[in-house]
Amino acid sequence: MVENRTALVTGANRGLGRSTALALAARGVDVVVTHRGDAEGAEETARQVRAAGAASAVLRLDISDVSSFTDFVDQLGGLLEHWGGASGLDVVVNNAGVGVFGPLEAVTLDDFHTVFDTNVRGTFFLIQSLVPLLAQGASIINVSSSLTRHTSPATSVYSASKAAVEALSRTLAAELGTRGIRVNSIAPGPTATDFNGGAMRDDAQMRQGLAEQTALGRVGEPEEIGDAIATLASDGLRWATAQRLEVSGGVFL
Ligand SMILES: NC(=O)c1ccc[n+]([C@@H]2O[C@H](COP(=O)([O-])OP(=O)(O)OC[C@H]3O[C@@H](n4cnc5c(N)ncnc54)[C@H](OP(=O)(O)O)[C@@H]3O)[C@@H](O)[C@H]2O)c1
Repeated sequence: MVENRTALVTGANRGLGRSTALALAARGVDVVVTHRGDAEGAEETARQVRAAGAASAVLRLDISDVSSFTDFVDQLGGLLEHWGGASGLDVVVNNAGVGVFGPLEAVTLDDFHTVFDTNVRGTFFLIQSLVPLLAQGASIINVSSSLTRHTSPATSVYSASKAAVEALSRTLAAELGTRGIRVNSIAPGPTATDFNGGAMRDDAQMRQGLAEQTALGRVGEPEEIGDAIATLASDGLRWATAQRLEVSGGVFL
């Protein structure tokens, strides 16, 4: 079990970011919750983390705004000092991400930039900015998607962005391994959150269709992804780096 560790979870005001923060808290990890504007959602996550017995703080971070990262890291560094015992960040979960879906002819340049600037550029440069704050033996987990393994029409730009996230995760594992830092990606399958307009939670026909294509016969729940991320971050998987862990119930095998 991981104890007395400190984690940063991006986009933790709702969805998989919140479930990840809570799964880490349940394992005794203190959590810095970030949001890009939904302070209320982030404070609610922090409240639930504290209720689970871990410390929590909230910071604002738009991962598509790379120019804000220097200030963010300054703020985060000050916070970690204020927390005392923390020797740096032990866990970083790059969860914040967007999906813009549509067939080839419908995708605009703006859509492309939104997806890549958030999922790829934001993830990469945030990791670069956080390096000075990482503790020896830290674990970085980048959230990808099962869509890098299987294929669905109208997902090209999103899938490509997550494939890039997986590729950069492997390379950074090689680069940061010299400091004992692990870098892995986690690939959720369809999971019932607000993502894609809440379709995997609210659209009964889509849920049924996906359930029929899934070995375990249903779509995933956010807690199942949060638990997987917290497990991947734990000492039990301390020898795993440069890996892609799919948590999808076996979708589209
Ligand atoms: N749910 C699924 O089926 C599924 C499957 C595979 C992978 N994923 C991935 O899992 C991650 C979390 O998704 P989710 O299901 O929890 O979806 P969600 O409910 O839509 O949450 C997305 C989170 O990312 C944040 N975010 C988006 N752009 C941001 C930016 N520029 N800066 C900071 N935060 C930003 C959102 O903030 P706001 O609240 O401000 O919008 C929100 O907190 C994403 O990377 C997604 O691609 C999800």
